[in-house]
Amino acid sequence: MNGERRIYGYALLALLIWSALLGGLLWYNLEEARDHIDELARKEARASFNKDQAFRMWATQHGGVYVPISERTPPNPALAHVPERDLTTPAGEQLTLMNPAYMLRQIMEDFGALYGIKGKITSTKLMNPINAPDGWELAAIQQFEKGVSEIFEYSEINGEPYLRLMGAMVVLPGCLKCHGEQGYQVGDIRGGVGVSIPMQGYFADLKVVVVQQVVTFGVLWLIGVVGILLLTLLAQLRRRERRLRGEERERYYREIERANAELIQFANISAHHLMEPSRRLLLFARRLQERSEGIANDEESRLALEYIQQGATRMRDLVRDIERYLAAALPRGEVRAHDPAPLLAKLQHHLLTGEGHPQGAQIIVESLPPLCLDLPRMSDLFAVLISNSLIHATSERQPLVRIHGESLPDRVRVRIEDNGPGIPAEYRERVFKVFEHLGANPLAGTGIGLSIARRIVESSNGQIWIERSPLGGIAVVFEIEKGEGGRVKF
Ligand code: HEC
Repeated sequence: MNGERRIYGYALLALLIWSALLGGLLWYNLEEARDHIDELARKEARASFNKDQAFRMWATQHGGVYVPISERTPPNPALAHVPERDLTTPAGEQLTLMNPAYMLRQIMEDFGALYGIKGKITSTKLMNPINAPDGWELAAIQQFEKGVSEIFEYSEINGEPYLRLMGAMVVLPGCLKCHGEQGYQVGDIRGGVGVSIPMQGYFADLKVVVVQQVVTFGVLWLIGVVGILLLTLLAQLRRRERRLRGEERERYYREIERANAELIQFANISAHHLMEPSRRLLLFARRLQERSEGIANDEESRLALEYIQQGATRMRDLVRDIERYLAAALPRGEVRAHDPAPLLAKLQHHLLTGEGHPQGAQIIVESLPPLCLDLPRMSDLFAVLISNSLIHATSERQPLVRIHGESLPDRVRVRIEDNGPGIPAEYRERVFKVFEHLGANPLAGTGIGLSIARRIVESSNGQIWIERSPLGGIAVVFEIEKGEGGRVKF
């Protein structure tokens, strides 16, 4: 559940980052497009403005232009104060002076379609009321008087969008011929000239760009969103699959554990049931041997009885060791530090006086720290290890087993050394396997003893191995942890 929520969290974060990124880029692109359109419109406005100015300058340079008087071009009353406003050519043609503003206005009126963008000249001190400024133009002229030289603005004229440009008109010496009367001096702001660029075409272009960008980025965004959603789904599926696999494995383990437990129980019961008949077999074989003494004196019968007895002994030992092996993995009493000394004394007595062990054997127990193990398994452990040494004793020497141990920081190490025939290094690991015999005599021991020892030690997190013994034979060494929480103190 928690993991699922985390995946959704990451997905949401990825979506937010993706959206912000594309949104930002789109916004930037649209800003750029708008700036570009604005730049183009300004350029057009300046070009148009400069062309008007060039005309005006040219006309001013020549102190105005004389043209034939006609109905369209009557003498300008505003120029009445200029001497020689009207002239007659030697051929008798009537000419009149045209001022720059008048000239330009006429060009615009007569050739509007060719001329293109209409300009307007205006001032706060009018010579001709036609040139009266509107509100925006008036404000612009006031700005010029403060030192600004050009003003742009987007605005609407008759409901249509326009970019308006207004530039200052400064009084030059040439202007004074006609405007000197009004009290102007060179360098004064006479007024302004404006052009208005219709923006409809530009805005239509901009709209196309905006639609293109929005569609492009929208598609890109959608692809990203689908990708993120797919990845989220995939992660979710993989997580679910992993969880299912974990559950399956657990079920499988439980199944194995159950089967294992059943098997051990079956083996335990079988061994238990086999024990009684094998004991009885041995008992009656012995009894029969005692009774038959002096009756069945022939060699064959004697041998047969001996074999029966040997077989019965072996069967009993095998069943006993199988029981020990099965019981080796789990404690059968309180697991804590126990002093092994009393237990060893009992074992010593039992092993040295019991049947089948070599005469004159000696078991020396030296200092031994307490061992953290339940008593029944500790008894089994020492029993199988000492037995193992005694069983493999050679007839040449008097069998000797020495047991001693030492306390390490977190473990106890115990050594069981003998003076037997020893085991070549390459076999020292193999002998821990069940039914691994090395000796020539397969009847010596059950072949399970060392496996029992290993099972007891390893199920207590310990280790067991074989080394050379200073006494000449082998040394079985095992280490067992001291136990937890300082429960074991020495
Ligand atoms: C040949 C005479 C003449 C010259 C030269 C001349 N003007 Fe004018 N100007 C006029 C007349 C006449 C008007 C007003 C009537 C009209 O609009 O035709 C006028 C109008 C204007 C206007 C419009 C405001 C208004 O009063 O109606 C401005 C601004 C202006 N002139 C600036 C200038 C500047 C700046 C120069 C020099 C670069 C200049 N003129 C040169 C004669 C002249």
